[in-house]
Amino acid sequence: MFIKVNNVSKVYKNNKNIEFKSLDNVNLTIEKGEFICLLGPSGCGKSTLLNLIAGFDKPSTGEIFIDDKQVNEPSPNYVTIFQNYGLLPWRNVKKNVELGLEAKKISKEERSKIADEYIELVGLSKFSKHHPSQLSGGMQQRVAIARALAVDPEIIFMDEPFGALDAMTRMNMQDEISNIWDKKKKTIIFVTHDIEEAVFLADRIIIMTPGPGKVKSVINVPMERKRDRTSDAFLRIRDKVFVEFKMKKEIDMEYYI
Ligand SMILES: Nc1ncnc2c1ncn2[C@@H]1O[C@H](COP(=O)(O)OP(=O)(O)O)[C@@H](O)[C@H]1O
Ligand SMILES: [Mg+2]
Repeated sequence: MFIKVNNVSKVYKNNKNIEFKSLDNVNLTIEKGEFICLLGPSGCGKSTLLNLIAGFDKPSTGEIFIDDKQVNEPSPNYVTIFQNYGLLPWRNVKKNVELGLEAKKISKEERSKIADEYIELVGLSKFSKHHPSQLSGGMQQRVAIARALAVDPEIIFMDEPFGALDAMTRMNMQDEISNIWDKKKKTIIFVTHDIEEAVFLADRIIIMTPGPGKVKSVINVPMERKRDRTSDAFLRIRDKVFVEFKMKKEIDMEYYI
């Protein structure tokens, strides 16, 4: 197994020094090349789990392994795409895409070639001399994706990357990331609170619930790409995921009555 999350819990202290369990005994395995969505409502620990797997933070208890090595710190072999794109405003599109390649000490000609290839992959060849401020949110996110892919990472972590985009742009970006995954078969761990987004993108959906953050269930999405959001198969899986959340709500209701 490529990624292993073994009995991981994470406890934070709030500003009054009271302990708060953000993740409770999470177990998870992920295979190489899988597209995984972490799905759940705000506050259920999705970002916490993503950050632990990416090595930005350490579990309070439990262990995480990638390729049989325990995760202790972020690795340049894995890249993270945040919601706010993280582009450098003073660099044009091409120079932004080349950023990660510079850190890898790749020659100037090679850098230029690789950057052009990935800028084309995300459909921005005409904009390679533009600066981020001249681009729409969707285009900026494409630049961030091109930059992430250009370094040929083993894993891509995406934390609600399309959260700030309008609904139509968001759907286009989902199509694009799905096509890219189909071509490149990278391991992608993608955080979302949007059920349809998860059903559209994932091989497996990890459903998380809050209070404390737990993995409630894992749902396989055995559908070919490119997926049709209106097909019966799609709607069936969407309903199945939906029911998972509804059941949780009913349990909560009982508890509070
Ligand atoms: N660095 C932190 N310090 C204290 N509490 C945190 C920290 N990060 C997250 N939390 C808490 O842990 C819970 C889960 O947060 P998070 O992982 O961001 O959820 P999600 O991404 O699913 O919205 C939240 O209640 C949040 O307030
Ligand atoms: Mg989050």
